Amino acid sequence: METNLTKQNIQFHDLHATRSDFLGDVLSGLRKRPASIPPKYFYDAKGSQLFDAITELPEYYPTRTEIGILNANAAEIARHVGTGSLLVEPGGGSCAKVHILLEGLQPCAYVPMDISKDHLRLAAKELAAAYPWLEIHAACTDFTQQMEMPPSAPGGTRVAFFPGSSIGNFKPQDAIVFLNSIAELVGTGGYLLIGVDLKKDRAILQAAYDDAAGITAQFNLNLLAHINRELNADFDLETWQHKALYNESKGRIEMHLISRREQTVTVDGQSFHFSQGEGIHTENSYKYTVDEFNALAAQAGFQSDACWLDDNSLFSVHLYRVQGG
Ligand code: AVI
Repeated sequence: METNLTKQNIQFHDLHATRSDFLGDVLSGLRKRPASIPPKYFYDAKGSQLFDAITELPEYYPTRTEIGILNANAAEIARHVGTGSLLVEPGGGSCAKVHILLEGLQPCAYVPMDISKDHLRLAAKELAAAYPWLEIHAACTDFTQQMEMPPSAPGGTRVAFFPGSSIGNFKPQDAIVFLNSIAELVGTGGYLLIGVDLKKDRAILQAAYDDAAGITAQFNLNLLAHINRELNADFDLETWQHKALYNESKGRIEMHLISRREQTVTVDGQSFHFSQGEGIHTENSYKYTVDEFNALAAQAGFQSDACWLDDNSLFSVHLYRVQGG
């Protein structure tokens, strides 16, 4: 593990997944039929930039809606949680929303965790410059595998912040396992503040994942460029097409990459055949009602403390607490 002090109030901890984890996941995913690749590999430097661009698209309502909810309710969130807690953000590579909470919560330290190292480093530095009083422990880690606190993080009531509806990228059973690991991380009496995208009209959902400017298509295709660069692969991006659909019975948006023609692709010396129209499933984004998500969180040991929605009921922000043992 690399640990270095990059600025007086930031410590950077590198617990990053290795190339062999990436290779193993891609090879085993491409062997399956239908083929699939875990969405965490979207986020190389370019993928993180493209995701940031997605959050500004007119069709992609989740980010601005969640920010609106957090801004409108920041004081009330602080009243529930109190001050001086240790604020942890799994997947908090852009540190983009946490500033809304900082003045109210006055945390003793902030621990963003993200797989995208350069993105995390840059965002943590910017946050440190804007909030010189804030102690930051930035952990470069795959939070879906590891939920360990950096060794030097201080104590205090722990509050996990998991915005952006990233929980929607887990299958519900995996979401329960992940939320359970958050419950263990924050401990009895600890909190989870989480953003969850709500079920709604199919047309709104599909447009959000298939925007007119084609940024989501670039984001999806960049996964193949990432694999080419890191895993000695030869995907021809021109021969793959972005597809997003709302699978209503499963309550999820699915993203796929569809082969435009019959072809063979090589990854680290291994060959994979695809017929024309065959897909690689790259992401699920589950949508929930408030009641459905409360039931899921309860299975992970969380009790609802509060829930806030926007005026159009597009998005929800829940505050949960770990029940006593
Ligand atoms: C990160 N995650 C919550 C996004 C989502 O909406 O599922 C990722 C994304 N995929 C396509 N657009 C955005």
